[in-house]
Amino acid sequence: MSVQTIYQELKAKLGDVVPEFELQYKAELAEEINRLKQEKKAIILGHNYMEPALFHSVPDFTGDSLELSRKAARTDREVIVFCGVEFMAETAKILSPDKTVLLPAEKAGCSLAESITAADVRRLKAQYPGVPVVTYVNTYAEVKAESDICCTSGNAAAVVESLKTDTVIFLPDEYLARNVARETGKHIIFPTVTPPNGHEAGLDYQLIGWPGRCEVHDKFSVADINNVRRQFPDVVILAHPECSPEVVAASDFAGSTSRMIRYVEEIAAPHYLLLTECAMGDNIAAANPDKEMLRLCSVRCPHMNQITLEETRDALKYNRYRIEVPEEIRRRAVQAVERMLAIG
Ligand code: 13P
Ligand code: SF4
Repeated sequence: MSVQTIYQELKAKLGDVVPEFELQYKAELAEEINRLKQEKKAIILGHNYMEPALFHSVPDFTGDSLELSRKAARTDREVIVFCGVEFMAETAKILSPDKTVLLPAEKAGCSLAESITAADVRRLKAQYPGVPVVTYVNTYAEVKAESDICCTSGNAAAVVESLKTDTVIFLPDEYLARNVARETGKHIIFPTVTPPNGHEAGLDYQLIGWPGRCEVHDKFSVADINNVRRQFPDVVILAHPECSPEVVAASDFAGSTSRMIRYVEEIAAPHYLLLTECAMGDNIAAANPDKEMLRLCSVRCPHMNQITLEETRDALKYNRYRIEVPEEIRRRAVQAVERMLAIG
């Protein structure tokens, strides 16, 4: 596709959000990336949080973390460029160890992935012997390797229900765990917050959580929702399940990033408010020009924000930054990821 065609497509979608001179420059970058992609036999996977010009130009597939891990598992291309954060690229490498997986940033972390270590999981397993461990995919490979099964925001409740055990250790997102507890009717405890042993005896709990949080979704409050509802009584509010349970309860819908996108596409409402990362609001607004999106955010995920068209071009050009997972860890981690993919 020529620079001019890419520019026209971007202008039609993003003309209202991105200035004209910037669109021209981004179209030139996107054309260069598409050329390099063919040359290197690469596939580009783009998370829903990518900045609008990237999201609407170079990815072969866009989606939430579950959808993208499925694509990573099935691709026959030699190189996977993961436009997302490190734990997502690592999941791709866990599933496709023979492929070159590139992350277009030296470090694009995640506050949830940073909140827990493999040693923390081992301690919990020693404290609750025999209790299965579910870890959110927003964790690093060492943590996945200590787990029985992974989950994403798109299948967390289904994964917990599939275990059919009295108790489950669910790590590391405190809010997602509380939201799953609400959805499944299970009681939850946080052993690192509530002193363990004596205090827990006799408590009726089925989920054991961990106090990790997403630094972006932690910012939304019920007061924000009440303010918006006062001004726009007919607004439909969508929250990501990494928001607090109070925020999720005060919203009209909660689901993974792709489920939120589908909801906006399928349900007619006078106004929508998305409680999630800012760039996704721009991406949905661009794809649904007839829908009225309200904005309640000024902050981007600082980790997703590292991934730009310039860095994506350089990733392909210089074969960087290669994701590697030691085979001993990968072998254990892949079981947890594949068990999740088998569930849905
Ligand atoms: P999804 O799996 O819903 O795409 O979420 C990933 C994420 O990091 C949300 O903050
Ligand atoms: Fe992690 Fe939150 Fe950024 Fe998602 S939005 S990558 S959970 S810090």
